[in-house]
Amino acid sequence: MKFPLFLARRFVAGEHLQDALRVAREFKAKAIFVTLDHLGEDVTNRQKARRATAVYLHILDVLHRERSQADISIKLSQIGLALDKKLALQHAMQIVQRGKRYGVMVEIDMESSRYTDDTLDIFFRLMKKHKNTMVALQAYLHRSMDDAVQIVKRRGAIRLVKGGYKEPPTLAFKKKEDTNKNYRKIMKLFLKKGRFLAIATHDEKIVREAQSFIKKNKISTKKYMFQMLYGIRRDLQEELAREGYHVRVYVPYGTEWFPYYWRRIRERKENFFFVLRHLFRR
Ligand code: FDA
Repeated sequence: MKFPLFLARRFVAGEHLQDALRVAREFKAKAIFVTLDHLGEDVTNRQKARRATAVYLHILDVLHRERSQADISIKLSQIGLALDKKLALQHAMQIVQRGKRYGVMVEIDMESSRYTDDTLDIFFRLMKKHKNTMVALQAYLHRSMDDAVQIVKRRGAIRLVKGGYKEPPTLAFKKKEDTNKNYRKIMKLFLKKGRFLAIATHDEKIVREAQSFIKKNKISTKKYMFQMLYGIRRDLQEELAREGYHVRVYVPYGTEWFPYYWRRIRERKENFFFVLRHLFRR
């Protein structure tokens, strides 16, 4: 069954770049920045991986032409990691280089645990040559504190998230409190060490804790930002932006929206009822 796009509208800007650019302009009017994500993942065909890379290069050209302040986020499995690590590195390098030319940050999403080692390795190689890149780190993984320490040592930047994939208990915390505890620890490590951190969560308790930690320790505004997903906690996004915080909303778009959409649905049981209500109404 193909799900109709209107169901995903809350979480996905639309199917075309123009939809994402319109959303970016609406956010800009509220002093909120965006990170654009052209949806797609687990590509197992070289030509498709090459095409996905070309799409990102095109997006960067358009953003530059439009003088947009948007950044972009890429999934390495969309540009070849599911096929060949070297190919993914080559493609990512092209995208990061083009981003550097235009002053755009290229963020790297963290996907399921089968890609963690390769994603970090590619990130470190990119980082050696170009500074306009950062990687997502998932607080639900047992390994993430060790990875965080390595990234701090190498003077890298991260987007800290809780983690959105199904992982076994051998690799990931199963209790929310444990993930949250790890999130706080990694967040404070980055803030204390002065390495750049995107605090990417809708968890209001963590956001408030970050705000007081930042205030108490006089952390420079250049060292962090808040990030949230399109369609989630708009009230909090706008409140933070009104207070003068750097807020960036992750805006996904494209035709391959289903896996992303499904992760958002799984995160909250109310979302399931929303889908069921709308499907049965049709
Ligand atoms: P938590 O799940 O505890 O939710 C806190 C509150 O947020 C909830 O009480 C609710 O109010 C609201 N909320 C959260 N999810 C919601 C939903 N789906 N629908 C409605 N309300 C919701 N993951 C990953 O594995 N790799 C990645 O690269 C990224 N990238 C990324 C970028 C950005 C900018 C963000 C904000 C998140 C990601 N994620 C991600 C997703 C992340 O791992 C996580 O799954 C979600 O952010 C939900 O976790 P919270 O931190 O919001 O906390």
